[in-house]
Amino acid sequence: MKKSVIESERIAQLRKKYHIEKYDLHPGYVFPESLQPLIPRNTPEYIDKGFNYVYRIVRALYHFKQCALVGPSGTGKTHIVYLVAELCGLPMWEINCGLQTSAYDLFGRYIGLGKENWIDGQIVQWCRNGGILYLDEANMMKQDIATRLNPVLDTRGHLVLTEKDNEIVLRHPYGYLIIAMNPFSAEFIGTKPLNAALRRRMAVWINFDYLSVGEKIAPEEIDLIAKRSGVSRDIAEKIVKAGAELRRQYKNGDIPYGPSPGDLINWATLVADGCPPIQAAEETIVGTTSDDVEIQAAVKRVIEAFFSS
Ligand SMILES: Nc1ncnc2c1ncn2[C@@H]1O[C@H](COP(=O)(O)OP(=O)(O)OP(=O)(O)O)[C@@H](O)[C@H]1O
Ligand SMILES: [Mg+2]
Repeated sequence: MKKSVIESERIAQLRKKYHIEKYDLHPGYVFPESLQPLIPRNTPEYIDKGFNYVYRIVRALYHFKQCALVGPSGTGKTHIVYLVAELCGLPMWEINCGLQTSAYDLFGRYIGLGKENWIDGQIVQWCRNGGILYLDEANMMKQDIATRLNPVLDTRGHLVLTEKDNEIVLRHPYGYLIIAMNPFSAEFIGTKPLNAALRRRMAVWINFDYLSVGEKIAPEEIDLIAKRSGVSRDIAEKIVKAGAELRRQYKNGDIPYGPSPGDLINWATLVADGCPPIQAAEETIVGTTSDDVEIQAAVKRVIEAFFSS
């Protein structure tokens, strides 16, 4: 589908706003019609708050073809990669390495007898066609997959399809890679240090943090919550303050999850619909944080501290 004039205009304005006009990630190359649906559209507004994440990611891709994003759950890593893909006009190939996806799914498989019955997996499709390969939870990647990926991450990268008569698939000139992960920390179950070979191949590491944490409240986040849900700025401020306190506790290792702006928007949406704030929180972020009753009680106490007056 062709982009409308309004859409192209919006993208041009955002490229200007994020100072990425000088970085063309597919100069003179038009992705084929079949890949156009993989280019994200209408990605919601992203609040960058002086961190210049969009600029830093696009710059890293332009110079090094790949980069790593590190930050706790809900800090907007996935959101920003969609935005970057939209603003740079790149198809997205997204893989969550935490799910136990097999090498067959990622590289390809035969669906019948005979060579013509081979179908490419997502990683091979990316390698042939270009765009952004986004590997979420990259530190959870299984070793066999990491090992096969290594050669393609070097500058003159290629994949070898051992299953398919050792076919060599060259990395598309506009094939970019972004990996994302939660910071490794001993107290959080499930986080693992990243595979060393993958770590060495990433030139740029960008650390993500919440817009508001603890006592540090970002007015931009209050505006975002108010605008996206319809609550007053006053209520939005309390919601952000409660969220910021929960994030502080999460970063401290006291609770298993800190609410994302998306979670706070959900809470605020029910409040805007007329639900009392504490009840709305019980139906949204309390359950999102944990299913452990004790932790849920701790989360409720934080919320009551901000809303009981
Ligand atoms: N800076 C931001 N501006 C606007 N929305 C944001 C921002 N950060 C996060 N969000 C919203 O918060 C929610 C969670 O963000 P997202 O899924 O991108 O986080 P993540 O870092 O990828 O988390 P995970 O590590 O769990 O995958 C989404 O609804 C996203 O749109
Ligand atoms: Mg994510």
